[in-house]
Amino acid sequence: MTTSSQRRYHITTFGCQMNKADSERMAGILETMGYEWAEAPDDADLILYNTCTIRDNAEQKVYSYLGRQAKRKQEQPDLTLIVAGCVAQQEGEKLLRRVPELDLVMGPQHANRLQDLLEEVLNGSQVVATEPVHIMEDITKPRRDSQVTAWVNVIYGCNERCTYCVVPSVRGIEQSRSPEAIRAEMEELGRQGYKEITLLGQNIDAYGRDLPGTKADGSHLHTFTDLLYYVHDIPGIERIRFATSHPRYFTERLIRACAELPKVCEHFHIPFQSGDNELLKAMSRGYTHEKYRRIIDKIRHYVPDAAISADAIVGFPGETEAQFENTLKLVQDIGFDQLNTAAYSPRPGTPAALWENQLSEEVKSDRLQRLNHLVAQIAAERSQRYLGRVEEVLVEAANEKDPTQVMGRTRSNRLTFFPGQIETLKGKTLPIKVTEVRAFSLTGVAVEAAVV
Ligand code: SAH
Ligand code: SF4
Ligand code: F3S
Repeated sequence: MTTSSQRRYHITTFGCQMNKADSERMAGILETMGYEWAEAPDDADLILYNTCTIRDNAEQKVYSYLGRQAKRKQEQPDLTLIVAGCVAQQEGEKLLRRVPELDLVMGPQHANRLQDLLEEVLNGSQVVATEPVHIMEDITKPRRDSQVTAWVNVIYGCNERCTYCVVPSVRGIEQSRSPEAIRAEMEELGRQGYKEITLLGQNIDAYGRDLPGTKADGSHLHTFTDLLYYVHDIPGIERIRFATSHPRYFTERLIRACAELPKVCEHFHIPFQSGDNELLKAMSRGYTHEKYRRIIDKIRHYVPDAAISADAIVGFPGETEAQFENTLKLVQDIGFDQLNTAAYSPRPGTPAALWENQLSEEVKSDRLQRLNHLVAQIAAERSQRYLGRVEEVLVEAANEKDPTQVMGRTRSNRLTFFPGQIETLKGKTLPIKVTEVRAFSLTGVAVEAAVV
């Protein structure tokens, strides 16, 4: 029951899966402190923005949301206003000068410390927490959005130095969690009835490099491949996914593990960013398009039907039309099931932002459109292979647009809709005969229903 004295909170999350996972943990902390979720931000006494700064438009969105709540605070002084996540880390104290109404500015490494930080705020301080820290193991229970699928952090931070990217400066250096802590969290999720786990890291295949110990041959004691073997038998967990993989660390041994371990789903998300070697070099990505193609060939050798997705950037400084066409060619040749595309956005503190060979917004948006057009066409072609096939679908939720249908995913991560009631089907894995395909989703019918 809600009493009038009950403090209520609202979290708005921007950005990637790491931020979503952090938000779930912060929500868990707030609930342990006695806060209750408010559906509408305007009903909340505590507002937390978990922010993203990967591109300029992501950052600007935060300021427009924040402006509105800062105004509200002038009438309601006991409103607590928090900015967490990557903009908080990037801007730090500057945010307080820009929005003096803020109570707390906290970087992503401080997510698990929310309770301590909030206590300082409630004692009357304005707090900035952006110093690098060793990320604490989380002792509270996250408030997870889904009861079927869950995220589990494996490695925080990033040690790469891609010349366009803010992530290393806002997420800090790599910190791998111990295999035991990861397994314990997954076992608990299995006991609670979760069916699918997505293991998370900026470069998940770099896992373990910072953990102590070496093998007899001098290699790292803990690798991501070893971790998969270590966690694959957890009771109750039916599916394991992982993201994101970096081509620099992706190994044949990892592909073989995915092929061998039945719970690991046939989906690989491996960003390539550009199909042109000179650009890859300017980006400091550490591989060539030939190496990327060899990785995909290997995947298709061991897991022929695997879905492949990636991220790509168009309009990087100095990108010529011919270099952009190399990206189109790679996309065409590989045949991606899905591709996250973005126009290059200069970011503060990154080397490429200072280069003089920036392209115009017109060129960037024209290339983005052309790439997106190709991606949709190829994804539609890739979807054709599902038509008439029976796919295993794990049901997650009702279809928001049609309550007579439920929504789930195939092992290859294709969104799939079929007639059914969510009350009886949630969390179940069913064989679904695919009757309709679109570029990024499928429609089908439960096999039992198709028989009668
Ligand atoms: N660690 C992952 C990606 C993390 S960031 C990797 O290296 O593959 C997610 C995506 O945002 C990147 O893959 C890239 O495509 C995009 N991105 C990062 N910085 C960007 C920038 N300055 N402009 C446009 N897109 C960017
Ligand atoms: Fe950014 Fe590169 Fe690190 Fe990915 S690997 S998060 S693109 S710096
Ligand atoms: Fe954005 Fe930070 Fe993720 S910048 S993409 S929320 S790591």
